[in-house]
Amino acid sequence: MQHDRILILDFGSQVTQLIARRLRESGVYCEIWPFSHAPEERIRAFAPKGIILSGGPASVTEGESPRAPEAVFRMGLPVLGICYGQQTMAAQLGGEVQRSDHREFGRAFVEVREDSALFQGVWAKGAREQVWMSHGDRVTKLPPGFRVVAVSEGAPMAAIADEARRFYGVQFHPEVVHTLHGAALLRNFTHAVCGCRGDWTMASYRAGAIERIRAQVGAGRVVCGLSGGVDSAVAAALIHEAVGDQLTCIYVDHGLMRAGESEQVVRTFRDRFNIRLVHRDASDLFLGALRGVTDPEAKRKTIGCLFVEVFEEEQAKLGGAEFLAQGTLYPDVIESVSATGGPSVTIKSHHNVGGLPEGMRMRLVEPLRELFKDEVRALGRELGLPEEIVGRHPFPGPGLAIRIPGEVTREKADLLRKVDAIFLEEIRRAGLYDAIWQAFAVLLPVRTVGVMGDGRTYDHACALRAVTSTDGMTADVYPFDVHFLTGVANRIVNEVRGVNRVTYDITSKPPGTIEWE
Ligand code: XMP
Repeated sequence: MQHDRILILDFGSQVTQLIARRLRESGVYCEIWPFSHAPEERIRAFAPKGIILSGGPASVTEGESPRAPEAVFRMGLPVLGICYGQQTMAAQLGGEVQRSDHREFGRAFVEVREDSALFQGVWAKGAREQVWMSHGDRVTKLPPGFRVVAVSEGAPMAAIADEARRFYGVQFHPEVVHTLHGAALLRNFTHAVCGCRGDWTMASYRAGAIERIRAQVGAGRVVCGLSGGVDSAVAAALIHEAVGDQLTCIYVDHGLMRAGESEQVVRTFRDRFNIRLVHRDASDLFLGALRGVTDPEAKRKTIGCLFVEVFEEEQAKLGGAEFLAQGTLYPDVIESVSATGGPSVTIKSHHNVGGLPEGMRMRLVEPLRELFKDEVRALGRELGLPEEIVGRHPFPGPGLAIRIPGEVTREKADLLRKVDAIFLEEIRRAGLYDAIWQAFAVLLPVRTVGVMGDGRTYDHACALRAVTSTDGMTADVYPFDVHFLTGVANRIVNEVRGVNRVTYDITSKPPGTIEWE
């Protein structure tokens, strides 16, 4: 089944991905392409029901600035230009854009002057509405066929429309939450103007993905490395549904997982899903290799290299496979336009635990390549994966090793696991787990003096860390109630022999990173 689709041409805005997020949330499948990689035949083959031109950092008033492919305006499809997208659309269709002294950044208000299909049921004529702007240039002369439908102080043509050709341009950013009703305006464009049905659901995706996996894999064998995280778990469950026992999962247990995690992976995949699973307990090997290693990068390298080695060893024992499954997500494969809007494109590569086994000559099966993280979670629920896996906080590939500054030993890892488990248990009990991006404990390489009962103690100190974030790139400290923190500290010191002091890390990212190493 072919879903209705919208094409987003990227001109390099920081928030282009948010356009895709908003569309997907309203059940519309969409893809982001660099404006420079969209020849007419490629667009026709994609068969979108409409096209959105994103914002971007360039200025239409400067010579070599990016342009939408002319075909975009000749295909009879609805087009929505946002910010730079509006400006280039106006300029390309015979209007004018000028530099302005009145720049608008952040919150602004528009006044709705005319009814438009874009505003239907959302904004009424005469209303004053909050939007989010970020522009210096503005459209100053309408292209033929257009009329002004909303104005703002800094943009007399804040929204323009040619209802006959179904071309719309907005100076503000509807994809940003600070534009109140922005999602509803985008929905008007995709559903009312373009006629999308909103048929992109994880239930329908699941059926299509299973067909595609079967077509790709045929009678071949697939191996999939499980990490305990949500992406590899969902990829494995989906592939298993498609090809059953042709799939074998390999779980390399480096002994640096959180409390109960390895048991849960085995329980879920082997016992509940009946998936062929190789559980390799390689903790002696990893902890042995980490002996005496204190430098954070050296730790990562040691674990990464060893991981690939062990994975290859297990894979060879299986007698080989034609396909390697990966939980690569859409944000990892989007080609975004560089900040200069130039032709260079940045393509992020995906690195799973320890990196790809590069030497392997296997073809990749990546059934999540089209999905955002929250869609992967929804698909995981659809497939019946337990909530503990689907909703789990991110966990770094090198595991607890980078939460134990200094040398890693089994004793320290055991100690840290206990502290971490208490912290997470209390967070869950308080109903805060889903409000936090990541929460964990760090075992500090210092001992401090304490007093318990009538005796002196001289034990480890630990730090707790909890942050909010949307993508891990920036993070804020989670503002726990102090009573919550003192309660957790009490439990830790009372229940974990060997730890006598608890601190809370109150550093945001930047300047700190989320992990300590
Ligand atoms: P930092 O510490 O760089 O972490 O602020 C950002 C996010 O990335 C995770 N992280 C990793 N994930 N392998 C991974 O798979 C790694 O080596 C790794 N290092 C950090 C971290 O947990 C956070 O979510």
